[in-house]
Amino acid sequence: MKDSKVKTVGILTSGGDAPGLNPAIRGLCEAGMNNYGMKFVGILNGYKGFEAGQCISIEKEDLPELLTAGGTFLGSTREKPFKNKDKISETGLNAVDSIKKFYKKWKLDALVVLGGNGSNTTAGLLSQEGLNVIGLPKTIDNDIVHTNYSFGFQTAVNIATESISMIHTTAASHSRVMIVEVMGHKAGWIGLHSGIASGADVILLPEIPYDINKVAKKISDNKKAGKKYSIVVVSEGAMDKEEAALDKKTFKKVRAAMTCSVGARVAKQIEEITGLESRCTVLGHLQRAGSPLPYDRCMATLFGATAADYLAREEFGKILVWQNDQIVGIPLLDVASQVKNVPTDDPLVKTAKSVGVSFGD
Ligand code: F6P
Repeated sequence: MKDSKVKTVGILTSGGDAPGLNPAIRGLCEAGMNNYGMKFVGILNGYKGFEAGQCISIEKEDLPELLTAGGTFLGSTREKPFKNKDKISETGLNAVDSIKKFYKKWKLDALVVLGGNGSNTTAGLLSQEGLNVIGLPKTIDNDIVHTNYSFGFQTAVNIATESISMIHTTAASHSRVMIVEVMGHKAGWIGLHSGIASGADVILLPEIPYDINKVAKKISDNKKAGKKYSIVVVSEGAMDKEEAALDKKTFKKVRAAMTCSVGARVAKQIEEITGLESRCTVLGHLQRAGSPLPYDRCMATLFGATAADYLAREEFGKILVWQNDQIVGIPLLDVASQVKNVPTDDPLVKTAKSVGVSFGD
């Protein structure tokens, strides 16, 4: 057992869940307990539970089943304590002061936050408030800057790819255009990877505004060339060129007024322009569901165990990220309020185009 001044560590998961959270918690707790004699407090339901003082003690016997378990056994919310700084709760404290109170009450030496952009931004702000915080990268969207890995992305891509690959058979049977809407409001990584991996004809991403007439032309050309059906993958945040020209506020209004998803809209427009029967499938939360892939289990274990070493070395205020095939710790606030988008000249975008995929641009 190695020496560590850090004895008691709080863990919380925040934001949308992702396959990989549970194995990361297992890796952290096993390594922390085995190598440093640390104790772990599981904070329930993200920052919301922290504010309300909801916690459990994590015991060694809780850990084995976490390796293969999807979701997060601690629960999660999208609470942003610094947004409600002026709101005083029944405890007489604002959200941030409540968190600081429970951090002290539970005698935490440090806190590990498993979250995406917003949650790690909060982690960075808590670190500025004097808490000893370490962040870990979690998001199926793969949109955290400075890291080439986040828990859940590979599993989500796998689910989307399997689903789109399956849809080919029914598309072929009915000679239809099948539109599959995948997650990704701001970043189109899931759409790009799953679209290429499943042989989509068209991929529409938030980063590449599309012209519906160009999309329709690609589908009509397919038909003329003898292809019975077409597959269109649409990120939920994909936008057409007109929408892309709007300012942020107007765009939000336009989207709020939409009565169907963007995938359903694309399906309707394609049918109107080409005359070909079109159907839309929205994969939704299936992409965050179920057991993590082996790759996510391994990487989550690596990140969790490495976090225990960072805790023992008291390297706080950092988020662990994956760069050049290794984990490095960078300041938490370096990832704050940023989104890692698909560059329009990404090698995969170029490759997709060169094998005939249309982005509608
Ligand atoms: O966590 C990221 C994400 O899965 C996005 O891809 C998606 O747009 C969003 O969460 C859905 O959030 P919620 O589960 O709150 O509906």
